[in-house]
Amino acid sequence: MAVRPIVVYPDPVLLQPCREVPEITREIRDLIPDMFDTMYAAPGIGLAANQIGLDLRIAVIDLSVGKDPKDRHVLINPVILATELRFSEEEGCLSVPDFLENVTRPRKVRVEALDASGKKFQLEAEGLLAKAVCHELDHLDGLLFLNRLSPLKRNRIKKKIQKMIRAGEWAGSTR
Ligand code: NI
Repeated sequence: MAVRPIVVYPDPVLLQPCREVPEITREIRDLIPDMFDTMYAAPGIGLAANQIGLDLRIAVIDLSVGKDPKDRHVLINPVILATELRFSEEEGCLSVPDFLENVTRPRKVRVEALDASGKKFQLEAEGLLAKAVCHELDHLDGLLFLNRLSPLKRNRIKKKIQKMIRAGEWAGSTR
């Protein structure tokens, strides 16, 4: 188990869709504890594999940030089956540190995925968990919460980040 460096915007690995996991190999099983460790260390409530530089459709979520084992979710090759209602709430991202914006997301979502042992399951999520599921699934499709903002807001943040990069003030990717 190990904490891995988190990749930040605008690293290309965050901006393109991830590959499906063809088989749950030993490497994949070993990767999942690292994803939880990295997420807890940040700390965060969700992490997608491309946020540690891996082109794989795997996400982990834990709203309790390690306090409740029942809150640990592993989603491999997740697919959204249904969404219901929408709500807007502030959200941020470990790969876009220090920016928080209101993002409109489904209030309820049903997703199908494989768990760490390769077993298919469905997860019904509501509220913050639904938001986290949708945020992480967006990552796997190469989308950041910035993509869910108005063009005006998105461009304002992108310009700020470009300025920070030029000034050497942006969270550097250690890859
Ligand atoms: Ni994120």
